[in-house]
This record gives sequence, structure tokens and C-alpha cells, in this order.
Amino acid sequence: MDNILDKHSFLEKQILELKKEKNAVILAHFYQDEEIQDIADFVGDSLDLSRKAANTEADVIVFCGVKFMAEVAKILSPSKIVVLPDLRAGCSLEDSCQPKKFEEFKKLHPDHKVISYINCSAKIKALSDIIVTSSNAQKIVEKLPTDEKIIFAPDKHLGNYLNKLTDRKMVLWNGSCIVHETFSEKQLIKLKVRNDDAEILAHPECPEQILNHADYIGSTSSLLKRVQVSEYQKFIIATEPHIIHQMKKNEPNKTFIPAPTSDGTCSCSNCPYMELNTMEKLRDCLLKLSPSIQMSKELIFSAKKPLLKMLELS
Ligand code: 13P
Ligand code: SF4
Repeated sequence: MDNILDKHSFLEKQILELKKEKNAVILAHFYQDEEIQDIADFVGDSLDLSRKAANTEADVIVFCGVKFMAEVAKILSPSKIVVLPDLRAGCSLEDSCQPKKFEEFKKLHPDHKVISYINCSAKIKALSDIIVTSSNAQKIVEKLPTDEKIIFAPDKHLGNYLNKLTDRKMVLWNGSCIVHETFSEKQLIKLKVRNDDAEILAHPECPEQILNHADYIGSTSSLLKRVQVSEYQKFIIATEPHIIHQMKKNEPNKTFIPAPTSDGTCSCSNCPYMELNTMEKLRDCLLKLSPSIQMSKELIFSAKKPLLKMLELS
């Protein structure tokens, strides 16, 4: 036990020293392991993290999240070194939308504006007019004229939810998040029956049959705020369960139950991509300043426009 603790605090010490030496900032998403969240300078949702990346004074941005998030940091701060502990940390939504196929899809809807969820590759961003995150999507869609024809990519569940909220008929790309699709409606109903004093909080990447049972729907940071303002003492959390770490920190006396998956026991609602980042890899990427995000100037230029549009509109 002592050995494990020693090893852990030694690793923490190394990370903090390297961070100072390299003038680096560590940004982490709420879905990262608890220890990574705790050592980060800033923990946030996709929108907060993009803003931080755009405004940091540091020379190096260590992005503890997935690759599309680190790419956003590079696009908004191209002169900085942006490193990711594990470059294989992808995203199923990004994978579900490949540029060639998306170009063909766009050709089928020539008079449509393209709104893309930030969970996509830089190439898809470059093919889009505006980027949104789950915290600003409704606001941005509502800013467009009601008769504007829109393609929404790549998340069909978020797109469907937005169509309902804004009374639009956006054409949806058929992508989804493998994590949010693991939640089981049947098990959720069973859990709610046994915990009728719990409020159900869900991320809009969940399928409609899960969202239909939610008392509150929002981005990761908005779910965190909800926990703080809600009168409820118990919550069922239908999103990646590592977010519960911050919820417990903010509200130590409240109870949090991860939403169940179909087999009820697996930890398959953990994001397998976020899990690739570890404290050891965080230390190593600071030490070697690698793996770093490399993108052509042209790609940065064309992916930046829709991202700046998002920051301007949100
Ligand atoms: P947020 O922007 O709500 O943090 O969502 C990011 C994400 O990847 C959800 O799966
Ligand atoms: Fe992508 Fe889903 Fe993981 Fe978020 S939780 S990074 S959408 S795979």
C-alpha cells in the first residue's frame, strides 16, 4: 500500500516539476481518471476547454482528453506545442463521420448550412459552417433563421434532441457515441423504481429512449451545476461515470448512482478512449513533448473559421 502511495506521489511530483520546467498547462475533461482530473490546472467541458486553449499564456498545452479536443487546442493556438498522453485516444463519433462520405452527403443537400458537433475530426470541421458543443448547440441553432436548411453531424441523438427543442427538421448524419448508447432503458426504469427519490440527469448524446426518462438534460458542465442547485439529494447519472468525481467534490453529502447498462455490472459506460490516458503517459508526454498534434497550416486555417464562429455565437 505504502509503495503504491509512494509511486503515485512520486509521479505527481514529476508531473508538477515538468509542468513548471516546460511552462505547460494541463487541461482535462470531466471523463478523465480521477487522478488526472486532480492534477490538471483546469477541468471542463468541451466548450470551456476550447476557450481555455484559445487564451492560455503557456508554451505547451497538455490535453488530457481525446484527440479531437487536442486538435481544437492546436487550431486555436497553432504556435503552441499541444501534446496528448495517448494519440490513440479517439472518439466513436469522430470515427462515424469520414470526410469522403461526408462530402458526398453534403452534395446530396447542396443548399444546406452545415452545423457540426465539436466531436469530429479537423477535416469535418473544415467542411462545416459552424461548430457547436453540447452546451451551446441549442443557442446557436436558434440564432439561425427558422427557414434555414441545416445538416447536423455527426451525432444523430444530439441532432434529434435539438430538432425537438428548436422545432427544426435538420438533416442528421447517422453517428453516435458508443458510451452513451450502452445505457439500458429497462434497467434505468428498474433503478428509478427502486430509487424514486432520485433525479435522473442525462447527457444529450444519450438515445431518445434514455432522454425520455431524464429530469434534466445538459452538457457535462451543466449536469455538474444542476447537482449543485437541485433540491434532490440523490441522482442517477446517464453519462460517462468519471464525471461523478467532480459531483462528489462539489456535493459530498449527495448520492450519485451511475446509470445502468444492459448487463448491469460491466463498466462499459467508461469511455474507452479517455481511459487510454494515464498518469504515466501524462508524465512521459510532458518529458518528451510528444506525441504532439501535427496539422497542416491549410487544415488549421479552414477548421478555424467554423470554430471561431462558434466562439463568437456562444
Ligand atoms: P461535453 O462538451 O458536454 O463535455 O461533452 C463531451 C463529450 O465527449 C461527451 O461525450
Ligand atoms: Fe467520444 Fe463518446 Fe468518448 Fe465522448 S464519451 S469522447 S463522444 S466516445
